[in-house]
Amino acid sequence: MLIRIPALLSAEQAAKIAAQLQSAGDAWVDGRVTAGFQGEPLKRNRQIDERSTLARELGDVVLAALERHPRFISAALPKRVYPPMFNRYEAGMQFGAHVDGAIRLIPGSGIKLRTDVSATLFLSPENSYEGGELLIEDTYGTHSVKLDAGDLVLYPATSLHRVSPVTRGVRLASFFWVQSMIADDAQRALLFDLDSAIQRLNASNADETARTTLIGTYHNLLRMWAEV
Ligand code: NI
Repeated sequence: MLIRIPALLSAEQAAKIAAQLQSAGDAWVDGRVTAGFQGEPLKRNRQIDERSTLARELGDVVLAALERHPRFISAALPKRVYPPMFNRYEAGMQFGAHVDGAIRLIPGSGIKLRTDVSATLFLSPENSYEGGELLIEDTYGTHSVKLDAGDLVLYPATSLHRVSPVTRGVRLASFFWVQSMIADDAQRALLFDLDSAIQRLNASNADETARTTLIGTYHNLLRMWAEV
C-alpha cells in the first residue's frame, strides 16, 4: 500500500533543512557508498555522509516529526526506524529500478533492521525541479510520486522502484526504512484501514458498543500478528 502523509514537516521546517543541506559542502558523498551489489551500477546521486553530525541532527528533526504523527504510526506500526538519510539529485542524476536491500545494519549500533516499509520525505518544492519522480511498481501498475516539500510517502519495501532523471534544478529528499511490528504488507494494510475507519467512527460519535467491538478487534488482530 502506498500512503501519502502530507505536511509531515511544515514548509518552514522543510525549507530550513533544505538550506542546511544546500550548504553542507564536504558532507555530501557519492550515493554509491551505501548501495549494495544490485544498486551500485544504477545509482547516480549524492547523499550526506550518514556518520556526519549534520545527518544525525537533521535526522533527529525527521524522527521527532514521525513520533508525533498518528497517521505515520497507524500506517507503519513501527518497531524500529532507520536513522533518516538525505540525498540530492542534480540534472542528469537518477536511480534505476531496484528493490531495497532486506536487512540493514544501523550504523554504529550493531542492530539490524528488516526493511518492511520504505519512506521518502520530499524536501524541495515540487515546482523547483523537473523530473525526479519516484516511480513505484505494484500489481496495479506504476505509480508516479512527486510531492511538495515536507510531504512523506510510505510504500512496501518489497516494491520495485526507481527515481527518474532530474532534468532541471535540484531534488533534495530524506529517505529511510521502517521495520514494522507487522512484517506482512497485506496484514498491515488491513490494520491501517480498520484503524482509519475507527477514527472516522470516533469523530462522528457513532454507536459506542459497535466502536468498542471494532477497537477490540483491532487490538486482538495486532496481538495476533505483531512482533514486538
Ligand atoms: Ni530504493
